[in-house]
Amino acid sequence: MKTIFTSELKGKLFASGVIAVITINDADQAVPLARLLVDEGIRAMELTLRTECALNALERITKEVPEMNAGVGTVLQASQLDEIIKRRALFAVAPGCNPDVIDGALERQFPFGPGISTASDVETAVSKGCQVLKIFPAEQLGGINYLKALNGPYGFLDLQYIPLGGVNAGNMASWLERPEILAIGGSWIAPPGMIDKKDWTGIAANAREAVKITREVRG
Ligand code: 3PG
Repeated sequence: MKTIFTSELKGKLFASGVIAVITINDADQAVPLARLLVDEGIRAMELTLRTECALNALERITKEVPEMNAGVGTVLQASQLDEIIKRRALFAVAPGCNPDVIDGALERQFPFGPGISTASDVETAVSKGCQVLKIFPAEQLGGINYLKALNGPYGFLDLQYIPLGGVNAGNMASWLERPEILAIGGSWIAPPGMIDKKDWTGIAANAREAVKITREVRG
Protein backbone atom coordinates (compact mmCIF):
# COMPACT_ATOMS: atom_id res chain seq x y z
CA MET A 1 0.00 0.00 0.00
CA LYS A 2 1.15 3.50 -0.83
CA THR A 3 1.28 6.02 1.98
CA ILE A 4 1.85 9.70 1.58
CA PHE A 5 2.95 10.12 5.18
CA THR A 6 6.71 9.47 5.21
CA SER A 7 8.18 7.48 8.09
CA GLU A 8 10.06 10.62 9.09
CA LEU A 9 6.82 12.58 9.44
CA LYS A 10 5.07 9.72 11.22
CA GLY A 11 8.05 9.51 13.58
CA LYS A 12 7.70 13.20 14.42
CA LEU A 13 3.98 12.89 15.11
CA PHE A 14 4.50 9.77 17.20
CA ALA A 15 7.26 11.49 19.16
CA SER A 16 5.00 14.43 19.99
CA GLY A 17 2.15 12.03 20.81
CA VAL A 18 -0.16 15.01 21.07
CA ILE A 19 -1.40 17.27 18.28
CA ALA A 20 -2.79 20.55 19.58
CA VAL A 21 -5.84 21.64 17.56
CA ILE A 22 -5.57 25.40 17.20
CA THR A 23 -8.12 27.88 15.90
CA ILE A 24 -6.60 31.34 15.64
CA ASN A 25 -8.60 34.57 15.46
CA ASP A 26 -5.61 36.93 15.60
CA ALA A 27 -2.48 36.01 13.62
CA ASP A 28 -0.29 37.91 16.11
CA GLN A 29 -0.94 35.14 18.64
CA ALA A 30 0.21 32.33 16.36
CA VAL A 31 3.95 32.52 17.05
CA PRO A 32 3.82 33.00 20.86
CA LEU A 33 1.35 30.12 21.08
CA ALA A 34 3.38 27.75 18.88
CA ARG A 35 6.56 28.61 20.86
CA LEU A 36 4.85 27.96 24.15
CA LEU A 37 3.56 24.57 22.95
CA VAL A 38 7.01 23.54 21.69
CA ASP A 39 8.61 24.68 24.96
CA GLU A 40 6.16 22.48 26.86
CA GLY A 41 6.92 19.46 24.64
CA ILE A 42 4.05 19.54 22.13
CA ARG A 43 5.67 19.55 18.73
CA ALA A 44 2.69 18.99 16.48
CA MET A 45 -0.35 21.05 15.74
CA GLU A 46 -3.44 21.05 13.58
CA LEU A 47 -4.18 24.64 12.67
CA THR A 48 -7.80 24.75 11.55
CA LEU A 49 -8.72 26.53 8.32
CA ARG A 50 -11.79 28.04 9.95
CA THR A 51 -10.77 31.64 10.46
CA GLU A 52 -9.74 34.40 8.08
CA CYS A 53 -6.23 34.67 9.44
CA ALA A 54 -5.51 30.92 9.46
CA LEU A 55 -3.18 30.96 6.42
CA ASN A 56 -1.31 33.98 7.71
CA ALA A 57 -0.94 32.27 11.09
CA LEU A 58 0.39 29.14 9.37
CA GLU A 59 2.95 31.11 7.42
CA ARG A 60 4.23 32.84 10.54
CA ILE A 61 4.49 29.60 12.49
CA THR A 62 6.38 27.67 9.80
CA LYS A 63 8.81 30.61 9.37
CA GLU A 64 9.36 31.50 13.01
CA VAL A 65 8.83 28.24 14.90
CA PRO A 66 10.33 25.55 12.65
CA GLU A 67 10.45 23.06 15.57
CA MET A 68 6.66 22.92 15.43
CA ASN A 69 5.41 20.27 13.01
CA ALA A 70 2.59 22.34 11.63
CA GLY A 71 -0.33 20.56 10.04
CA VAL A 72 -3.61 22.00 8.88
CA GLY A 73 -7.14 20.87 9.65
CA THR A 74 -10.57 21.41 8.13
CA VAL A 75 -9.20 21.04 4.59
CA LEU A 76 -12.41 20.76 2.61
CA GLN A 77 -11.22 21.44 -0.95
CA ALA A 78 -8.25 20.22 -2.95
CA SER A 79 -7.38 23.79 -3.96
CA GLN A 80 -6.68 24.63 -0.30
CA LEU A 81 -3.76 22.20 -0.46
CA ASP A 82 -1.85 24.59 -2.74
CA GLU A 83 -2.28 27.40 -0.22
CA ILE A 84 -0.98 25.36 2.68
CA ILE A 85 1.86 23.73 0.72
CA LYS A 86 3.01 27.23 -0.28
CA ARG A 87 3.14 28.09 3.43
CA ARG A 88 5.08 24.94 4.23
CA ALA A 89 2.52 22.93 6.16
CA LEU A 90 3.75 19.39 6.77
CA PHE A 91 0.42 17.55 6.64
CA ALA A 92 -3.31 18.04 6.52
CA VAL A 93 -6.41 16.39 7.93
CA ALA A 94 -10.15 16.90 7.59
CA PRO A 95 -13.22 15.87 9.53
CA GLY A 96 -14.56 13.86 6.59
CA CYS A 97 -13.49 11.46 3.90
CA ASN A 98 -13.67 13.58 0.74
CA PRO A 99 -12.37 11.68 -2.33
CA ASP A 100 -11.61 14.96 -4.16
CA VAL A 101 -9.28 16.11 -1.40
CA ILE A 102 -7.65 12.66 -1.20
CA ASP A 103 -7.06 12.70 -4.97
CA GLY A 104 -5.70 16.25 -4.74
CA ALA A 105 -3.30 15.23 -1.99
CA LEU A 106 -2.11 12.19 -3.97
CA GLU A 107 -1.53 14.31 -7.08
CA ARG A 108 0.57 16.70 -5.01
CA GLN A 109 2.19 13.88 -3.01
CA PHE A 110 1.13 15.73 0.13
CA PRO A 111 0.39 13.85 3.39
CA PHE A 112 -3.36 14.01 4.00
CA GLY A 113 -5.22 12.04 6.64
CA PRO A 114 -8.92 11.99 5.78
CA GLY A 115 -11.49 11.81 8.56
CA ILE A 116 -13.22 8.47 8.95
CA SER A 117 -16.11 7.42 11.15
CA THR A 118 -17.40 4.25 9.45
CA ALA A 119 -16.06 1.11 7.78
CA SER A 120 -17.14 2.56 4.43
CA ASP A 121 -15.00 5.65 5.07
CA VAL A 122 -12.04 3.44 5.93
CA GLU A 123 -12.47 1.52 2.69
CA THR A 124 -12.80 4.68 0.60
CA ALA A 125 -9.59 6.04 2.14
CA VAL A 126 -7.71 2.74 1.90
CA SER A 127 -8.76 2.14 -1.71
CA LYS A 128 -7.05 5.41 -2.59
CA GLY A 129 -3.87 4.54 -0.72
CA CYS A 130 -4.32 6.38 2.59
CA GLN A 131 -2.71 4.76 5.62
CA VAL A 132 -2.98 7.51 8.25
CA LEU A 133 -6.58 8.27 9.13
CA LYS A 134 -8.19 10.79 11.44
CA ILE A 135 -11.02 9.16 13.38
CA PHE A 136 -13.60 11.86 14.04
CA PRO A 137 -15.47 12.53 16.30
CA ALA A 138 -13.52 9.91 18.19
CA GLU A 139 -15.05 10.00 21.67
CA GLN A 140 -18.59 10.66 20.53
CA LEU A 141 -18.41 7.64 18.19
CA GLY A 142 -17.69 5.38 21.16
CA GLY A 143 -14.08 5.95 22.08
CA ILE A 144 -11.33 3.40 21.85
CA ASN A 145 -13.75 0.45 21.94
CA TYR A 146 -15.38 1.71 18.76
CA LEU A 147 -12.00 2.00 17.04
CA LYS A 148 -10.95 -1.49 18.18
CA ALA A 149 -14.11 -2.92 16.62
CA LEU A 150 -13.85 -0.76 13.49
CA ASN A 151 -10.20 -1.57 12.85
CA GLY A 152 -10.65 -5.29 13.55
CA PRO A 153 -11.09 -6.35 9.92
CA TYR A 154 -8.35 -3.99 8.75
CA GLY A 155 -5.68 -4.89 11.33
CA PHE A 156 -3.57 -6.62 8.68
CA LEU A 157 -3.27 -3.32 6.76
CA ASP A 158 -1.34 -1.56 9.56
CA LEU A 159 -3.48 1.55 9.40
CA GLN A 160 -2.59 4.30 11.84
CA TYR A 161 -5.17 6.56 13.43
CA ILE A 162 -5.28 10.03 14.91
CA PRO A 163 -8.34 10.34 17.18
CA LEU A 164 -9.87 13.79 17.34
CA GLY A 165 -13.14 15.01 18.77
CA GLY A 166 -13.83 14.88 22.49
CA VAL A 167 -10.31 13.69 23.34
CA ASN A 168 -8.95 15.30 26.51
CA ALA A 169 -6.68 14.75 29.53
CA GLY A 170 -9.22 12.39 31.07
CA ASN A 171 -9.41 9.91 28.18
CA MET A 172 -6.23 10.40 26.13
CA ALA A 173 -4.39 7.53 27.87
CA SER A 174 -6.99 5.01 26.66
CA TRP A 175 -6.07 5.93 23.08
CA LEU A 176 -2.32 6.33 23.47
CA GLU A 177 -1.82 2.84 24.87
CA ARG A 178 -3.06 1.26 21.63
CA PRO A 179 -0.50 0.39 18.93
CA GLU A 180 -2.69 1.64 16.06
CA ILE A 181 -2.65 5.19 17.44
CA LEU A 182 -0.10 7.50 15.83
CA ALA A 183 -0.94 10.50 18.01
CA ILE A 184 -3.99 11.95 19.69
CA GLY A 185 -5.31 15.44 19.18
CA GLY A 186 -7.71 17.94 20.57
CA SER A 187 -8.59 21.55 21.15
CA TRP A 188 -8.77 21.28 24.93
CA ILE A 189 -5.10 22.22 25.35
CA ALA A 190 -5.54 25.61 23.72
CA PRO A 191 -9.23 26.31 23.12
CA PRO A 192 -10.08 29.51 21.19
CA GLY A 193 -11.37 31.24 24.35
CA MET A 194 -8.03 30.79 26.12
CA ILE A 195 -6.06 31.87 23.03
CA ASP A 196 -8.20 35.01 22.63
CA LYS A 197 -7.58 35.88 26.29
CA LYS A 198 -3.84 35.12 25.90
CA ASP A 199 -4.13 32.74 28.82
CA TRP A 200 -0.61 31.43 28.22
CA THR A 201 -0.30 30.18 31.82
CA GLY A 202 -3.46 28.09 31.51
CA ILE A 203 -2.48 26.74 28.08
CA ALA A 204 1.01 25.86 29.35
CA ALA A 205 -0.54 23.96 32.27
CA ASN A 206 -2.82 22.02 29.90
CA ALA A 207 0.12 21.25 27.60
CA ARG A 208 2.30 20.09 30.50
CA GLU A 209 -0.44 17.76 31.72
CA ALA A 210 -0.90 16.27 28.23
CA VAL A 211 2.85 15.73 27.83
CA LYS A 212 3.07 14.12 31.29
CA ILE A 213 0.27 11.66 30.45
CA THR A 214 1.86 10.87 27.07
CA ARG A 215 5.20 10.08 28.74
CA GLU A 216 3.51 7.93 31.39
CA VAL A 217 1.75 5.86 28.73
CA ARG A 218 4.44 5.67 26.06
CA GLY A 219 7.52 5.86 28.24
C1 3PG B 1 -10.91 19.00 15.00
O1 3PG B 1 -11.04 19.94 14.26
O2 3PG B 1 -10.07 18.14 14.84
C2 3PG B 1 -11.87 18.86 16.13
O3 3PG B 1 -12.68 19.98 16.23
C3 3PG B 1 -11.20 18.61 17.43
O4 3PG B 1 -12.18 18.20 18.32
P1 3PG B 1 -12.26 18.78 19.81
O5 3PG B 1 -12.56 20.25 19.67
O6 3PG B 1 -13.39 18.03 20.49
O7 3PG B 1 -10.93 18.55 20.48
